[in-house]
Amino acid sequence: MIKTWRKFSLLLVLMAVTLVIAACGGGSEGGSASEGGGGQVDVGIVLPTKDEPRWVQDEQRFKDALAETDYSTEILFSQGSSAKEKENVDILLNKGIKVLIIAPHDGAAAAAAVESAKQDDVTVIAYDRLITDTEAVDYYVTFDSLAVGAAQAQYLIDNAEGSGVPLYLYAGASSDNNAFLFFQGAWSVLQPKIADGTFKIANSSEAEALKDTAELSRDQLSKVLGQVTTNWDPNEAKNKAQTHLTGVGADMKGDVAVLAPNDGTARAIADVFASDGEVTNYVITGQDAEKASVQYIIDKKQSMTVFKDVRTLVKDAMDMAVTVLEGNEPETTGSYDNGAVEVKAKQTDVITVDEENVKAELVDSGYYEAGEFTGLK
Ligand code: BGC
Repeated sequence: MIKTWRKFSLLLVLMAVTLVIAACGGGSEGGSASEGGGGQVDVGIVLPTKDEPRWVQDEQRFKDALAETDYSTEILFSQGSSAKEKENVDILLNKGIKVLIIAPHDGAAAAAAVESAKQDDVTVIAYDRLITDTEAVDYYVTFDSLAVGAAQAQYLIDNAEGSGVPLYLYAGASSDNNAFLFFQGAWSVLQPKIADGTFKIANSSEAEALKDTAELSRDQLSKVLGQVTTNWDPNEAKNKAQTHLTGVGADMKGDVAVLAPNDGTARAIADVFASDGEVTNYVITGQDAEKASVQYIIDKKQSMTVFKDVRTLVKDAMDMAVTVLEGNEPETTGSYDNGAVEVKAKQTDVITVDEENVKAELVDSGYYEAGEFTGLK
């Protein structure tokens, strides 16, 4: 009831704001630059790339949510380029945005883009990926990324049999702060099981050298990531996995465990492990609950994924944007140190999904439709 009333009053406020903006002539004509064309935009959204289903998913969920707002919005993709990202931000600034929601391609390089947004008094919300080493970030909406890594690691432990299980480690791109958090979360859970001999590391001398270190520093993480990064690129992941399997002896094959950082890289790595005759079984992690990986889980080609409900992240980001547009302070649940400031953050939990609960979590919940998959039980 209260919720309905709040929604209703929000709607009234939105309508009033729209009227005032309309009465003032929209602002874009009065502004100095409207070369971006297409008139006034209230909230600009910049996403890293269309090449990964994860971010196309976010675009779709944003579109669904935007259908319900009266504010004007525009979504632009940076296609894996920080230069393009900066250009996108400039286009949106020229359209008079008041709030920028941005998932950076490269967390450090994006500082320049958000600093120009700040100069225009725009509120900056980092979306999913933190922007680092700048004071020009106001808020951060994110999943619990340490928990993502921890869930992946726990799954490998729960599904390992006996001891001396070969463990292959892979990570995301070093330019993405999340890649550090995922690996850090995974390491905190895996490390005791590496130290006690349950797992033996197959593909990283840097990780091997740190096997008795429970908590890794940023520098130590950098060294390991430098060796096992996939750069979030399935092709790079595939090539690395091939090189690793070619480089090891039979003692590093048999039943193995693979820490893959996300679904795109997991499918590529899984295909390589599946085609190696000396690998008798592999347990492999993922994250994002991409449709293709849901199918892989149903087909027993990928063991698990970490479901991050993008609807929640989109809602948090848009609620925050609207709160700011109304002149209020958004609610946050904690903060993240980005190297320059403590950024106020709103964080969302994640869910481990494997063949046991894939239908309940991802289909019965309405996230996907049953007809999008084959062999779903
Ligand atoms: C996101 C993941 C995504 C990865 C690659 C990370 O920052 O949190 O969901 O799979 O980037 O795009």
